[in-house]
Amino acid sequence: MALDKRGLKLTAAGDDAAAALDAALDDFLAFGRGAGPLLKTAFETDGDMPMAHVLRGCFFLLMGVGALRPRAAKSGETAAGLPATPREHAHADAVSRWAGGDTAGAVRRYEDILLDHPRDILAIRLAHYLHFYHGALVQHRDSTARVLPAWDETVPGYGYVLGMRAFGLEEMGDYARAEEFGRRAVAIDPSDAWSVHSVAHVMEMQGRAQEGIAWVRENEAHWEHKVHNFRHHLWWHQALFHLALDEEDAALDLYDGRFRTDAASDDVLDIANAASMLLRLHFRGVDAGGRWEELAGHAAMRFSDGIFPFFDAHYMAALAMAGDSDRVRDHLEAMAGRSGVATADAVYDDVGLPLCKAIAAFGAGEPKRCFELLEPVRYELYRLGGSHAQRDVFMQLLIAAAKQAGRDRECRALVAERAAQKPGAVPAWMH
Ligand SMILES: [Fe+2]
Repeated sequence: MALDKRGLKLTAAGDDAAAALDAALDDFLAFGRGAGPLLKTAFETDGDMPMAHVLRGCFFLLMGVGALRPRAAKSGETAAGLPATPREHAHADAVSRWAGGDTAGAVRRYEDILLDHPRDILAIRLAHYLHFYHGALVQHRDSTARVLPAWDETVPGYGYVLGMRAFGLEEMGDYARAEEFGRRAVAIDPSDAWSVHSVAHVMEMQGRAQEGIAWVRENEAHWEHKVHNFRHHLWWHQALFHLALDEEDAALDLYDGRFRTDAASDDVLDIANAASMLLRLHFRGVDAGGRWEELAGHAAMRFSDGIFPFFDAHYMAALAMAGDSDRVRDHLEAMAGRSGVATADAVYDDVGLPLCKAIAAFGAGEPKRCFELLEPVRYELYRLGGSHAQRDVFMQLLIAAAKQAGRDRECRALVAERAAQKPGAVPAWMH
């Protein structure tokens, strides 16, 4: 029995195997580009390490690709069949549940692990991720609060936990404390992209656009060459700050040069970033050129994944705005009639499908229908998960639809509501 770097018991052939697994986990926590190869090295050290199989399963699931679910399930099954500690077997069970679509069951497993092992940073990060995509804001905040008493500066990875705590607080509107935790995390490690991101969210929600641009730029040298696709999301945030200053050209430059580059990818978050930005630019009257079509090509390959409806809404935006009515219809059909087994199924039925129909209507030039579909579910949109900043694009859509449909009373009310929430968040096009 070996120990990991935080002192948790690890079933491994020896200290070398434990160290190799620690290295893969570290890179994952840092959003690094080497987690896959490092995990391969860990397998070469010990092919029967249960947590290596667990981690591989998690990596497959975190890619958000439906076709990888069976491989994740296999990893969970393999880990479950190996000699392991109860904690490791609980991880194997969580991966299996998640791979089967029972993400609620998986997150309960992670929270249960954390009651006994509050320094299990993989469980902390995965609970953080799943609460986020469940729209479970209170759980997202409280999950990290429960484990923090077991952490301090002497425990490796402390900064990551502070950064997650920061994001949970931010999404609950506790901006001052969120910024404090986030800045402490970045002071420990300025290349910690998730913590840089937590502070960027505070600045976004408080309308501190100039500061936000400086914040992302100031830390960029530390994370830019180290971080995988998540760096695109930080540049997306930078583009949001530019939009708040009505600097559409700068936002579009970031789109082309930083987060939707020539090597445009089909990564779920990359597509979400891009579709969200193009919609926001569309509302501002910016012509997307051929960008919607490029995005729609990737979205079309992904909409049968059925992972979280949050992603589907962005795929739908790409297809609908590119005018690809055949694929819009196919996508709506793929979302309807789900089995009801997976945690996400109810969210698809209650929120995802009405939202996607609304987006399709908007793309088809039917703003009245878009408004009528979207308005009744507007207070349920949080169930999609994602951040307030990300979901804001759907509120902008509602306002745009109201305005184009001549629903002046509703438009006025929505704009007033928005202005009360965040002064300065009402651009000229909304009036
Ligand atoms: Fe974000």
